[in-house]
Amino acid sequence: KLERTLGFIKPDTVDKMGDIISAIYDRGLLISKLRLCKLEHNDAFNFYQEHSGKSFMNSLMNYVTSGPIIAMELVGENAIQRWRELIGPTDPSKARSEASSSLRARFGKDVTHNSVHGSDSPASAAREIEFFFPSCNKQTFSNCV
Ligand code: CMP
Repeated sequence: KLERTLGFIKPDTVDKMGDIISAIYDRGLLISKLRLCKLEHNDAFNFYQEHSGKSFMNSLMNYVTSGPIIAMELVGENAIQRWRELIGPTDPSKARSEASSSLRARFGKDVTHNSVHGSDSPASAAREIEFFFPSCNKQTFSNCV
């Protein structure tokens, strides 16, 4: 089924945007929306609210607010699962132990500084797309995906 998902390139990996866009297109996904933006602390807290109270929440907040990020809406068959396969496991050292070369294997530093994000379910994809692209979703161009 045709799905949409939300990915973002985290601040320390924005300079790898070209490699990441190539990997997305090689995987047969399309970038339907893209923006560069800077998350403030309260934005990041809202985005990651399901992790509030976890031990890594503070370091995660510091990381994703440390500079601009690139948010992308991706479209394709089974886009949610395929984007998660392309980014690889949360922990880059685990990603590097796997046979296929995922984005976190290539660009991640450690379990917090793991270079990219991907929605983990249809419900979180819908919420996270609305988070980054609210006004665009409310537009009613007939040719919008
Ligand atoms: P992401 O997929 O964006 O979603 C939650 C983020 O929290 C995750 O990537 C990592 O950046 C971070 N994270 C998840 N699990 C841990 C962990 N065990 N220790 C430290 N950071 C984590």
